[in-house]
Amino acid sequence: MILASASSGRETWPSWVLLVATVLVSGLFITGPVLRRRYPLAWWLLLGFPATALRVMYTWRALMAGCGLAVSRRPALTVVSGLVGNGAPPPQPRVPRRGLVRPTAGGFWLLVRLLPGQVPEDFVKAAPAMAEDWQVHAVRVTSWKPGTVRVAASVCDPLAAPRVPKQRGPGRLLRVAVGVLETGTAWVLDLRRIPHWLIVGATRSGKSTLINALVAGLAPQPVALVGIDCKGGMELSLYEPRLSALATNREQAVQLLTALVDLTLDRMTVCRAARVRNIWGLPDKERPVPVVVIVDEIAELFLVSSRNEKDEAQAAGTALIRLAQLGAALGVFLVVAGQRVGSDLGPGVTALRAQLGGRVCHRVADPGTAEMALGDLNPDALKAAQAITPEQAGTAVLASGDGWERARSHLITEVEAEAVAAEYAHLTPVLSELHVEAS
Ligand SMILES: Nc1ncnc2c1ncn2[C@@H]1O[C@H](COP(=O)(O)OP(=O)(O)O)[C@@H](O)[C@H]1O
Ligand SMILES: [Mg+2]
Repeated sequence: MILASASSGRETWPSWVLLVATVLVSGLFITGPVLRRRYPLAWWLLLGFPATALRVMYTWRALMAGCGLAVSRRPALTVVSGLVGNGAPPPQPRVPRRGLVRPTAGGFWLLVRLLPGQVPEDFVKAAPAMAEDWQVHAVRVTSWKPGTVRVAASVCDPLAAPRVPKQRGPGRLLRVAVGVLETGTAWVLDLRRIPHWLIVGATRSGKSTLINALVAGLAPQPVALVGIDCKGGMELSLYEPRLSALATNREQAVQLLTALVDLTLDRMTVCRAARVRNIWGLPDKERPVPVVVIVDEIAELFLVSSRNEKDEAQAAGTALIRLAQLGAALGVFLVVAGQRVGSDLGPGVTALRAQLGGRVCHRVADPGTAEMALGDLNPDALKAAQAITPEQAGTAVLASGDGWERARSHLITEVEAEAVAAEYAHLTPVLSELHVEAS
């Protein structure tokens, strides 16, 4: 029957197709706002992307010229063409060749071939202009291979309402998906790849939430968690059932850190006897349990008011630095959080900071703190960190040896964190050598 009706309408099919297409397209435009709200991905692929891709294609030449990325032809050629062409306009400048514009879930990307004499940095500088011109949230330019850059645009801020699900179950040892990266993929903290982390941010910028996410991810794994929270344990005592040790004042912290250094040195002896370079080289049965040490508010350890406190602070600092130096190979990992990490806290802080290779910079109160957290990285990373608003709590700039990116942690509340700690309390390894005296 369908066949019959199709053949009977053979002469009129072009108008049918036109009509159907018109109805479809106008339907899409009418339902556009609803589609955009309810099914943003479908909206983007059906309407947003085609329109944006057209805009990129049509404005490419003018954009490149406006950003100073077009190269004029040789003057001689211009003169000759003027003579030969009898007043015809001179040849247009050359612009970098662009590949296909390809869609992604939250934007698009394309490859661009550099002209002679251009370097990727020229395009990095032009990224904000591209974002304005294409009316997208942000444009990131990265080297693709020699002579080619990759230009990636995100249409709206993927961190405004992250869609990546929280991690379920234990996952791989010492790896936790704590949030979402700007690219839309999971933000994974991998302690085996980068063993020590520094997390900075002003009050209510999202430090504790990130620690919640980390602890919730590590709790189901066979690891020992150790807390140092000298604000009286207000933050970390939530996890007490899952913690192998918790220090809530500086005196206890010094005891605990000293015990941790001893534990690390013992492990070193074991590894040396077995002739292996780290605990991962030991047979499964003999491998000691990895220990993740979480320090909330590092300033509480270092700020001193009396002579006696000064000695304690120094002891704590020295122990932390030793742990950072020795720990990675011996299965002791540091996660240090604080509002500031400047040398004003004490002489040991700069040395400690240098040992913490992974950096997470939330919203900060002053540019100096961002600089200290992110190091002398790309100035764009510092700008991105300073642009984080209080409404975007949990958003951070991540930096490690490989570069920088923006991310946002999963919102894991105190209640959820407490529940996770209680659920996995039975997995808490007993490390009697880390026992601290109540004071
Ligand atoms: N990733 C996040 N997503 C959404 N909201 C967040 C996120 N992280 C933090 N917040 C909000 O910010 C508040 C303060 O965060 P918190 O982690 O306690 O900050 P800090 O420890 O730096 O003072 C939280 O109660 C929560 O409402
Ligand atoms: Mg906090």
